Order: sequence, then structure tokens, then C-alpha cells
Amino acid sequence: MPLKKKIVKKVSRKPKKEKEVQEELLLQPPRGMRDILPKDQIYWQQVRRVTEKAAADFGYRRIDIPVIEFTNLFVRGVGSGTDIVEKEMYSFSTKGGEKVSLRPEFTAGIARAFIQHGMHVSPKPVKLYYSGSCYRYERPQEGRYRELFQFGCEALGEQDPIIDAQMIQMAWRIIFQLGIRDVVVEVNSIGCPACRKNYRNLLVSYFESKRQKLCIDCKKRLEKNPLRILDCKEDKCEQVKANAPQSIDHLCEECRVHFKNLLEYLEELEIPFELNHSLVRGLDYYTKTVFEIFPRNLEENAKKSALAGGGRYDGLIKMLGGEQTPAVGFAVGMDRLVSEMKKLGAKYYREPKAKVFLAQLGSFAKKKSLKMFEGLERSGILVAESFGRGSLKSQLKVADRLGVELTLILGQKEALDGTVIIKDMTSGTQEVVDAQKIVDEVKKRLKMTGTIIKTI
Ligand code: HAM
Repeated sequence: MPLKKKIVKKVSRKPKKEKEVQEELLLQPPRGMRDILPKDQIYWQQVRRVTEKAAADFGYRRIDIPVIEFTNLFVRGVGSGTDIVEKEMYSFSTKGGEKVSLRPEFTAGIARAFIQHGMHVSPKPVKLYYSGSCYRYERPQEGRYRELFQFGCEALGEQDPIIDAQMIQMAWRIIFQLGIRDVVVEVNSIGCPACRKNYRNLLVSYFESKRQKLCIDCKKRLEKNPLRILDCKEDKCEQVKANAPQSIDHLCEECRVHFKNLLEYLEELEIPFELNHSLVRGLDYYTKTVFEIFPRNLEENAKKSALAGGGRYDGLIKMLGGEQTPAVGFAVGMDRLVSEMKKLGAKYYREPKAKVFLAQLGSFAKKKSLKMFEGLERSGILVAESFGRGSLKSQLKVADRLGVELTLILGQKEALDGTVIIKDMTSGTQEVVDAQKIVDEVKKRLKMTGTIIKTI
């Protein structure tokens, strides 16, 4: 008895010690980040297909840029006074002492790549598209994540407003084709640096006179970034800004004509849009056109989450050290598109279903079945199998459950003879055929003509 007690003590002490040094392992990703499981991939795949198709249709070419860039690219590009840079960046120093950040968005990185790779000598506009994750340390809530996914397009080197209209058309078409039909496109023009200077002064003097009525954040914005007061969602600020001067009343002639033409193009395209004088966007690089697309919320007081946002940024490339290059672009929030599609019960991507099942019996046949699977698959025939199962009965059960049209049975005898049994799952009839001709036999029975190009 005493001996037993001693042993128990020894055994129990060791894990206790280990526990003290090990940090608790949380089996979840950091806040605001999540796994996108296979069951949801059907929606994501649909978004990927529709966006990539739109990019191809409008002549955009893919670009991939790093997830991490030097922090000062975003500080200079997106703007030091913006919420994104000031509060939301994941910034850190590398072991080598470089100050870097996870990209909060793509446009600054695309502009950097455009300059670095001398794309200004390419025929204009340079049309680029991208998709991938971005990181913003925001307060997570429905439709707002810290790891978010965007698809976007940028057209660099063109100043004509027709391309602004085309950007809106693309974003609108993507959303529409995903089955999200009831949306509103909000547009505004915030002018160029020249006319915005006057407008900014007017805004400052207006808001100065109402300073006491502004929220704490907007009091700070008054010094740093007065335009941002216009998209503050605080009730008290909403009231003040209702009577604030509007940017479109203070545009210079060039910006006024640009905006007028854009609206005419949108009318021509029959894209329903609304002017939103408070739309300024949360990134500093914008000039002239800004726009956002929202689902039209039927419920009252429902939170507004943009599905897409974009605009013109004629000064960004020069500001980062490149040549003066007008540019315009947009990004859609893929997470928000997926969640809206689910809400609406929109069409998702349907994976192609196998019409053929390959069953095997015995170790020699099992070996041969691998090669036969490859031969069928290479010829464009989608084949299902359950190679891990030994019994024919259980394999046929799987074939039944999958609802295939044909089951190929490769037994020990067939493997030695160089034949295979084809079972028609509807009629139940079986036939022995030459294994060398299996591809043609299957195609004939499935009434497939030529080689099917598999969609991967
Ligand atoms: P943005 O408006 O900041 O613009 O983001 C574009 C879209 O990304 C938003 O409309 C929204 O759908 C989605 N999004 C933004 N933040 C979140 C979040 N925390 N969670 C989920 N979705 C989010 C840009 O990023 C600009 N770079 C767009 C652009 C391209 N402008 C010119 N070219």
C-alpha cells in the first residue's frame, strides 16, 4: 500500500511540472480570423469563378504581390491619418530590423509594383487584377473580419472617366452575377488636390463653428483629416454633417466635367446610382471619383456594409516616387459577397459529379486499379473510388450512394486476363471488356464525344 502511494505521487508530479511551463493551446485562430471549411467553398468557388471571368472579359491580367510590405509604403500610400494606418495595421519588426506590415489592402502594393517593374512604359492603361487576404485590426463583427479577402482591379495610365464607369460596371456586374441583385451604387467626387484645398478650408470653418457638437474622434479629425468627419456614423455628427458644404459644389472645372461625364456613362450603362455627398472613403489616395456598392437593406436600422469600394487615385504613383500616372480601381469584399449569397440563397458552384466508380478486389487487382484510374482520369473521365475498402459489397454500396452510372469491377481474374467488368448501375447488366479499351468503352456508354476537358 505505501509503495503504491509513492508511485502514484511520482507519476502525477511530472505532468504537473510540464503544465506549468506550457502555455495553454487555444484550438482556434486569432480573433477576427476563421477557417473557410469545404462546405463553404462552393460559395467561394463561385465568387472566384465570377470574378476571374469578369477580369478576363474586361482584359485584366493577374498580379500577385507579397502579403507583407514595408510599413512606410502604407503610411505614405494609404495615409498616416487614416484609421487603417493609425489603428488597424498589423505592424512588426523582422529579425533583421525591417519595419513591415501585413497588407491592409492591395492598391498601395500594386502602385509599388507598377513603379518597381517600370510598367509605365507598357501600353496604357495597364490593367491588373488580384485576389487574396488583407489584414485589418478592426473590431470584429458580422461582415467585418481581421483577416479579409478581396478581389480587385486597377487600371493605371488612363484619365478618361469612361474607365471609372467601366470599373463601376465591373464591380456591379460581379455582384449581380453572384445573384445579389438589389444593390445601390453610391458615387461622389472629392475633386483633385487643387479644388479639394478650397473645399477642405470651407469644411474646416463649417465644422469649427459646430465643434462642440462633434464626437471626440471627429474633434481630432478636424485637425488631421476633416473630410473623414463626413463618414462618421455617430448620431451627433450625422446631424452636424447634414448641412455641411458638399464637395461637388466646389469642384474645379476639370473635376466637374470628369464627374458629369462619369454620371452620363453610368446612365448610359443603366446602372442605378445615387449621389452620396458624405462618401469620402477611408483611404487618403483618392482623387475625383469615389464609389461604394451596398446591398439594399430591407430591415430598418440594418447595418450598412459595403460589398465593394473604389475610386480614382491620380496622385498615388507620383507620390510614391513614380511618374505622374492617373489610375482608378476597386475591390470587392469576398467574405461579404459570400455571406450575402448565403443570406439570399444564391446559386453556388456545383462540383462535377463522377459518373463512374472503380472497384477492385484482391491485391493484384488493387495494384492495377491505380493505373486504370489514372488512364480514365487523364482522358477526362471523372472517376470515384474507395480503394481503402477491401470487400466488393462495401465498394458497391459507395458506388450506389454516389449515384454513378457505371461501375468498373477489377477482380483478381480480370487483372490477370487484362479485362474489366462494366456494370450498368441502372439496368444491373454486366459485361466483360478488354482493359486496354476501357476508356473508349466508358465514353461510348456515357455517350461522351471526344475528350472532355476537365474543369479543375
Ligand atoms: P476598401 O473599401 O477599404 O477599399 O475595401 C474594399 C472592400 O473590402 C469593402 O467594400 C468591403 O467589402 C471589404 N472589406 C473591407 N474591410 C473589411 C473587413 N474588415 N471585413 C470584411 N470585408 C472588408 C480598398 O481596400 C481599396 N484598396 C479599393 C480600391 C482599389 N480602390 C482603388 N483600387
